[in-house]
Amino acid sequence: MKTTLVTGGAGFIGSSFVRGLIARQQTRVVNYDLLTYAGNLDSIPAADGKMHIFVHADICNADRMAQKSPICSERTRLAKKWRMVRLTH
Ligand SMILES: NC(=O)c1ccc[n+]([C@@H]2O[C@H](COP(=O)([O-])OP(=O)(O)OC[C@H]3O[C@@H](n4cnc5c(N)ncnc54)[C@H](O)[C@@H]3O)[C@@H](O)[C@H]2O)c1
Repeated sequence: MKTTLVTGGAGFIGSSFVRGLIARQQTRVVNYDLLTYAGNLDSIPAADGKMHIFVHADICNADRMAQKSPICSERTRLAKKWRMVRLTH
């Protein structure tokens, strides 16, 4: 079975993507998220350590990424740090 790395998998788009992947059961999911203000564990199924592996870490942590990335055949990068909101009148 293939393994998909999703960065930002607890965010708005990432959590929907992860829910879809897990529901289809065609890939194992490594969900890599720092859980900033935007990340929410309640929006994704609980990690079971088999089909859904959650890694609470920063994508800027090269060592941690290097541990997880090689086991993954697919990668989807959705982690982003800043949300700019500009109000105009
Ligand atoms: N939401 C939209 O309408 C929209 C539209 C076009 C493109 N995008 C792009 O899609 C991507 C996801 O958007 P979103 O709305 O889901 O964002 P979001 O802010 O809801 O989620 C981002 C996720 O990334 C995680 N994250 C932030 N910094 C991290 C780090 N250093 N390491 C690991 N995880 C980190 C956060 O905890 C969060 O779970 C972004 O690249 C965004 O630019 C979004």
